[in-house]
Amino acid sequence: MTILVTGGAGYIGSHSVLTLQQAGYEVIVLDNLVYGHQDIVEVLGAKLIVGDTCDRTLLQQLFTDYQIDAVMHFAAYAYVGESVTKPAKYYHNNVIGTFTLLEAMREANVNNFVFSSTCATYGVPDSVPIKEEQSQNPINPYGMTKLMVEKILQDFSHAYDFRSVCLRYFNAAGADPQGRLGEDHHPETHLIPLVLQTALGHRESVAIFGTDYDTPDGSCVRDYIHVLDLAQAHILALEYLLAGGKTDVFNLGNGNGFSVKQVIETARQITGKEIPATISDRRAGDPPALVGSGEKARHILGWQPQYSDLTDIITHAWRWHQKRHG
Ligand SMILES: NC(=O)c1ccc[n+]([C@@H]2O[C@H](COP(=O)([O-])OP(=O)(O)OC[C@H]3O[C@@H](n4cnc5c(N)ncnc54)[C@H](O)[C@@H]3O)[C@@H](O)[C@H]2O)c1
Repeated sequence: MTILVTGGAGYIGSHSVLTLQQAGYEVIVLDNLVYGHQDIVEVLGAKLIVGDTCDRTLLQQLFTDYQIDAVMHFAAYAYVGESVTKPAKYYHNNVIGTFTLLEAMREANVNNFVFSSTCATYGVPDSVPIKEEQSQNPINPYGMTKLMVEKILQDFSHAYDFRSVCLRYFNAAGADPQGRLGEDHHPETHLIPLVLQTALGHRESVAIFGTDYDTPDGSCVRDYIHVLDLAQAHILALEYLLAGGKTDVFNLGNGNGFSVKQVIETARQITGKEIPATISDRRAGDPPALVGSGEKARHILGWQPQYSDLTDIITHAWRWHQKRHG
């Protein structure tokens, strides 16, 4: 079986390529390398096609040249703040790019699709842990682009012989425990890498945005999912589709959140570094707690996260950061 992985040179995509290879799948990576890393794909020994999901001609050629059985679609722009100031960039890449890919797939009769969606489609949740049927009201263009693709996929599955699984991730974190792969976003906006860059002395301090939330220690609470647990869920979703499973959506969350202060304190213990922190005002649009119920994925896909412990997540990320940036 050959799986096309778009965005496979990025953080979650590359860990999924590794997991697919370990499960015996052939993998072809399509990445425009705007944010991805060519050297990572080389480490994995996967075939890399440098190109864009908006390029219909390239996609037609790709589906002609290779017998693709299914597509895992990670390629997207994912900076929430930038999506507010440059919405056109996000609608173009995340919606038109995905639509172009879906059309090329239909033309080539490739009908199985696993999509990287996000908890950002829920906006500010009514209650936590969030379940799949909770209302989706994104509060930024990034979340809206992902919701639009979810809607397109629903309509495609009603009208065409086309099935998909949308995986709504909470906060991806951690790294391959063997240190071969990890998180390397430029610019970096995610908390754990920012904390570890501070531990390495590459940043003076890490900011805590708000300490007056209605949470146990006043700082924001987020559900951190180990990137290999996400990758595992993708394989299960793929196998579910290949076995004839119907179009569906699943949250990928541990149902358990950690606060910003807890993350910083755990990182201090693991790294043995001081990690200075500063307290800033709340950021607009940051909900106090975002925690996802992964019950449906456990029940239907048989998903069993292996690394829900924050210490494991930060230990693996630290190993990678020391190797890549130390
Ligand atoms: N990191 C998270 O916590 C998180 C949470 C929820 C959802 N997601 C989603 O997961 C996916 C992967 O996230 P990530 O953190 O690995 O991001 P990433 O930036 O590391 O990876 C995305 C990859 O896609 C590539 N890409 C972007 N647009 C492309 C295009 N049009 N054509 C070809 N390649 C393109 C980039 O070069 C990059 O290598 C994204 O769709 C993101 O929205 C991430």
